[in-house]
Order: sequence, then structure tokens, then C-alpha cells
Amino acid sequence: MTKLQGQHVVLGVTGGIAAYKSPDLVRRLREQGADVTVIMTASAERLVSPTVFQAVSGETVRGDLWDEKAESAMGHIELARWADLILIAPATANLMAQLAGGSAENLLTTVCLASDAPVVLVPAMNQGMWRNASTQANRKKLEGRNVRFIGPEEGEQACGDEGPGRMTEPVDIVARLGMGKVAGILRGLQVMVTAGPTREAIDPVRFVSNKSSGKMGFAIARAAADAGASVTLIAGPVSLTTPKGVERVDVESAIDMYDAAMDRIGSTDIYIGAAAISDYRPAQMVAKKIKKIAATFSLEMVKSPDLLAAVALLDNGPFTVGFAAETDNLEKHALTKLEAKRLDMIVANLVGAGVGFDRDDNSAVIMWAGSRQAVPNMAKTELARQLVAMIASRYRAVAGAEASQSRPAAS
Ligand SMILES: Cc1cc2nc3c(=O)[nH]c(=O)nc-3n(C[C@H](O)[C@H](O)[C@H](O)COP(=O)(O)O)c2cc1C
Repeated sequence: MTKLQGQHVVLGVTGGIAAYKSPDLVRRLREQGADVTVIMTASAERLVSPTVFQAVSGETVRGDLWDEKAESAMGHIELARWADLILIAPATANLMAQLAGGSAENLLTTVCLASDAPVVLVPAMNQGMWRNASTQANRKKLEGRNVRFIGPEEGEQACGDEGPGRMTEPVDIVARLGMGKVAGILRGLQVMVTAGPTREAIDPVRFVSNKSSGKMGFAIARAAADAGASVTLIAGPVSLTTPKGVERVDVESAIDMYDAAMDRIGSTDIYIGAAAISDYRPAQMVAKKIKKIAATFSLEMVKSPDLLAAVALLDNGPFTVGFAAETDNLEKHALTKLEAKRLDMIVANLVGAGVGFDRDDNSAVIMWAGSRQAVPNMAKTELARQLVAMIASRYRAVAGAEASQSRPAAS
């Protein structure tokens, strides 16, 4: 049974050209067991006929706030109470501005204001409209009120522009809601995940390490295996059970992890570096246990090899996803790492007192060329499923773009 089973979903469809994809979204939501009521704005009705939505949802499509017949069947407040989830796809720049401003000028915005249900927006618009400071201010305002965003995606647009603004594909929307099946979205692909801390020996009994529990990396390995990938998990010293169907390689130190990963990287399609590899290690390991004689003791540390950067630099290397665990300036540091190491994607998460390491929940901001996606705090298992769905859709977009570039031009 999926989490959507028996859930009441109000699907708002607004006046974006991507509205032609929304009937497919209705179909996929219903496949997951949801009851879907569609609310269309007047602009959306000019782009796609309500009859299409009626046919795929099996329900009367709502549009006019002042429709007496519809109001007497299920008034707008009843509809707001009925909803377990309000999903708006596509969400126009106009809709974002209306919600950010608290407007209730049509049925959709009125239902959003009146409902306690979570609201998820799937924006779709021209890249200039998305990048516009007003739209970005509205996004921030809405995120601050716990409105969740899925997308937009980067790529070629209906208007011929290139950039962020494409609506996320219905299959990926359902997967990212964390309610759908991730099954099959990575079928046939080889995924390598690194997880946990490393231990850098000082002497035979002491080491330098960090607080990583490995839970996030293990959850990702499991989600990737559920998604149909062949998964190799390179794990630092952790006490976690190997996810079903995953090949596990245990290592201790940063150098062990580097060697284990590089030995197996050749056939990898997607590399996800979730391990907290020690940046520095003792310059040398003392062969015998250090005795407590001296009043002070200093340790010379040298840099460990940078596995993530090495993978990203490989010729014909895998799609490379890094993690940035930061205590401050999260997005700034993550963006610098994304660009400096030429990663395909980075998952930025705060760590420190009470957040990040050794917990069962986490939040993150996922960033890639020109785009970002904030994921609110949730169980690491759920975050892992959403991450895998995002990685799969971005991997397909990049692989598709590379394939079309290498294709000979039609004569
Ligand atoms: C053909 C066409 C396509 C449009 N596509 C988009 C779009 O993808 N995204 C967007 O934000 N606005 C788009 N617009 C503009 C919106 O339709 C317009 O802002 C409208 O007021 C939105 O109303 P609504 O948010 O109530 O649906 C488009 C307009 C036209 C005529």
C-alpha cells in the first residue's frame, strides 16, 4: 500500500503551458490510490479542456468560485477541509504571487487559504520569470510558511529559452512526494554510495574520526536498490545492517575508502559520496601505543586524498553527487563546493548541536547547475527516497542532453 492510498488530493492546475502534462499526473496519483479533485484556474481552462481532467479524475472539475451548482454539492470550505494534500502543478508565477500575498480571488487560492492541508507547488514558467527577483522573493516567503516546492527543472523550454523553469515530470513528482514507487527508476544502472566516517590511526589503539553515523548513506543505498540499481556501498566503521541486495565493502581509513572506491568506479553510472571522509590524517601512525609520559602531545596532520574531486574529474566518469555538511553559511559553502569540484549535484545539510549527524531525521537543500530544491525535515529514509528520485530525474536529463549533443545533425 502506498502513502497516497485513500488520500484526498486537490490538484490545482494553473495557466502554464505545462498544464498539458497534468492529466498524466492525475492518472499517476490515482494509480497510487489517491482520490483526486481538480481545480482549474480560468487561464488553465484556456490551455487544456476541463473535460480531459474530468475523464481522467472521474470527478467533476472545479473552477468557478461562484458556480452555484458545484458550491451546493461541495462548498469551497468543505473542499478545503476534504483535502489531505493540495498539489499545484503547474504553478504559475502569478499563482505564487497570489499565495505569497494571501490572495483569495479565485477558488484555488481560496481553498489554499482555508485549508490546513500541506501545500506543494510544482512551478513551471519561462526562465526569466523564475529568476525574477519578485518570483524568488515569493518562493522564499512561501518556503518560510512551509509550502514545499518540487522543481523547477533546468533545460530547454517551450518558448525556446534554456534555463530553470521546466515543470518536473509527473512520474518524478509522484516519486518526490515520497508517496510513489521509486521502483524501477534506476533499473539497469550501477550506483556507488560511500557512507559513514573514516578512522585515521594515531597509534594501534587510537584514531581521529567524526560523528557520522552512516545512516544517511545507508538509507540512500537502500533507496537506490529499491529503485532497481545495482548498488555498491563502501562503508566506514559503522554498526548498521547492510540493506537488502546491496554489495557492501567495509573500510577504515580515508585512504582505504579512496582505494576501494577507485578500484570499482569503472562501471559506475552514479556516484553518491555521503561518507564523512576525514580531510586530514596523522602524518604517520606510531607503531606502538603512545605512553602517557609527556605533559603535552602534538599531532601533525596531512591532507587525505579527495575522493569526491577525483571521481568528478574522471574522463567519462559517473554522474557525481556530493554532500556538504556545514555548520554555517550552508548554501554558500555548498555552491562553492559544487562549482570548485565540478559536481553534478550537491546535497547541503546543516550539522552541529542536535542536527545532522547520528539522528534519524534530516533536512537538506539540493543544488545543481542554476537550480536548488529545499527538502524539509523528515526521516532520513524518506529523504533518501526523495533524493534518489531527484538524482534519477537529473541523471536522465543530463544523459539525454549528452546523447542529443553527440547525435549527428539531421541533414
Ligand atoms: C500560451 C501561454 C502560456 C503561458 N505559460 C505560462 C507558464 O508556463 N508559466 C507562467 O507562470 N505563466 C504562463 N503564462 C501566463 C499566465 O497564463 C498568466 O500569468 C495568467 O494570469 C496565470 O493565471 P493563473 O495563475 O490564475 O492560472 C502563459 C500565458 C499564455 C498565453
